[in-house]
Amino acid sequence: MVDELHTSLDELIPVALKAIEERRTVSMAYVGNVVDLWERLAAEDIHVDLGSDQTSLHNPWAGGYYPVGLSLEESKRMMAEEPLLFKERVQESLRRQVAAINKLTAKGMYFFDYGNAFLLESSRAGADIMKKDGKFRYPSYVQDIMGPMFFDYGFGPFRWVCSSGDPKDLETSDRIATEVLEKIRKTATPDIIGQLDDNIHWIKEAGKNHLVVGSQARILYADSEGRTKIALAFNEAIRKGEISRPIVLGRDHHDVSGTDSPFRETSNIYDGSQFCADMAVQNVIGDSFRGATWVSIHNGGGVGWGEVINGGFGMVIDGSKDSDRHIRQMLLWDVNNGIARRSWARNTGSIDAIRREMERTPGLCVTLPNIVDDDVINTAF
Ligand SMILES: NC(=O)c1ccc[n+]([C@@H]2O[C@H](COP(=O)([O-])OP(=O)(O)OC[C@H]3O[C@@H](n4cnc5c(N)ncnc54)[C@H](O)[C@@H]3O)[C@@H](O)[C@H]2O)c1
Repeated sequence: MVDELHTSLDELIPVALKAIEERRTVSMAYVGNVVDLWERLAAEDIHVDLGSDQTSLHNPWAGGYYPVGLSLEESKRMMAEEPLLFKERVQESLRRQVAAINKLTAKGMYFFDYGNAFLLESSRAGADIMKKDGKFRYPSYVQDIMGPMFFDYGFGPFRWVCSSGDPKDLETSDRIATEVLEKIRKTATPDIIGQLDDNIHWIKEAGKNHLVVGSQARILYADSEGRTKIALAFNEAIRKGEISRPIVLGRDHHDVSGTDSPFRETSNIYDGSQFCADMAVQNVIGDSFRGATWVSIHNGGGVGWGEVINGGFGMVIDGSKDSDRHIRQMLLWDVNNGIARRSWARNTGSIDAIRREMERTPGLCVTLPNIVDDDVINTAF
């Protein structure tokens, strides 16, 4: 929900400046081309704290990005009838957009890639988006936020669907998930307390938000321990009849292990292996014989065709002892194969997380990285 909708920048800018002066919080939307907005902000030297871009640049030539200077109708005609010219217009627009963003970041704005291939497509368009060392000028949100705070510890989007379609089952599952997370929190280490608190708050309130529009489904962020214990508790509840029908477990591809994407999910892996596409494949193969009901391996999720490999799974749990076994074996793998890889890349959160998993899980043995000073390696080779 936005407080104000504007179609004219002449109208929007003075209102925004007044709100800033009065220290009033207001959400405003501009219906128009975002490049016009960026250029106006830069030209008038208006301070922006935080910036990103959320156009669909994973699909730049077929309607994901509308170039500045063309109306919606002109764009649609050009992309169908003159695709090469349309491509040029998109790239020119990106060069202008980046030039304006660069002016604002030079004045203190923090800019980040939203996971929509903005940095990648801007670089391909020849925009001034690269540093001298060949890296992007700006980070992806996974590098600064999602990676070091969540994925490295195994926290990712764990989902379930109540196959009964009964809201009461979803309510029961929310309660069970809350109880499990609250129990885990009692003995959790300080580095993951914040994640647990956020998710306990979310799942307690989730029902009140009335977000369910179709399937009785829920999502929360949990690590390997959380996902496994929640799933086992669901299975127990199905066994006892507290939940009336089987539950289908799953997760998003935007997760710890299932996706190889140097421009998003694996962008905070800095040992060079972020450009390999093997983790997603290992992930689904491991899931497939550890108990998944189905797996999928696909291409393009989030950042576009050819830029990412995604692995996913679904697991039907029906209250049986087999389901208990599948949950223990498969969720352990589904989360920890990514943590192991992140730990080998020397991500500190993951080194701690995999150590903890080995203490918790008898028989699990993952080699730990030997940390060597880069200067020593550079001297040796
Ligand atoms: N970070 C994440 O977790 C995350 C999650 C979902 C999607 N994504 C990525 O974010 C992008 C956006 O996703 P979405 O679901 O919102 O897509 P969407 O296609 O529904 O929305 C993109 C919007 O951008 C508008 N747009 C395009 N060019 C514009 C321009 N020059 N000026 C103004 N508006 C313009 C389009 O009209 C459209 O309304 C996708 O690339 C997607 O892959 C990231």
